[in-house]
Amino acid sequence: MTKIISPSMLSADFGNLQAMCEMINASEAEWLHFDVMDGVFVPNISFGFPVIEAVKKHCHKMLDVHIMIVKPEKYVERFAKAGAGMLTFHFEATENPQQVIDLIRAEGIKVGISINPDISVKVLEPFISQVDMVLLMSVFAGFGGQKFIEDTYNRVDELKEMIDRLNPTCLIEIDGGVTLENAPKLYAHGVNVLVAGSTVYNAPNPQQMIIDLKNA
Ligand code: DX5
Ligand code: ZN
Repeated sequence: MTKIISPSMLSADFGNLQAMCEMINASEAEWLHFDVMDGVFVPNISFGFPVIEAVKKHCHKMLDVHIMIVKPEKYVERFAKAGAGMLTFHFEATENPQQVIDLIRAEGIKVGISINPDISVKVLEPFISQVDMVLLMSVFAGFGGQKFIEDTYNRVDELKEMIDRLNPTCLIEIDGGVTLENAPKLYAHGVNVLVAGSTVYNAPNPQQMIIDLKNA
């Protein structure tokens, strides 16, 4: 089973992003997760294109870009040009998820679709066969450091059944409140990619924490 750790940059030291890139490059993290927030879809504002472009120059891992913005269709091309290797948008942030999927595909990068914890997993069914990854939020999108919602396991089971039936190579990513305690259970339910912000960057040794999360 594919197991990938994608540390979320949201909890890194923004005053020293080059050091973060060097840490990530030397670590066992396969991806680096970017949380782009617009202050409209979520009640928080993070960072945008210039920061992704700057990190892209120094970070050799795949940039896993999670956009929490309204009208994602307007910005797909710019995120691809900025260096996204995977671009994950929110189903509930657009009137036309199909168009967003098609636009991301046309850029030749990987496509992810995400939903918040209050959106039924069933809404994803028409799109599963067309995406490379589903990101299930295990907290409400907007802030790092929130508590993991336990109902996530049931949602993963429902999603996994759909993926096995419709697109077995589609990855499942979990984002929000991931810790060494819940990681083993998430893998056991079929999760492939763990996003971890505070768990990695607040650890005394972030590189060791990445290894521990992978082997959890
Ligand atoms: C929340 C973001 C997450 C966040 C996770 O909206 O999508 O990626 O950085 O942070 P932790 O791991 O601290 O919950
Ligand atoms: Zn995220």
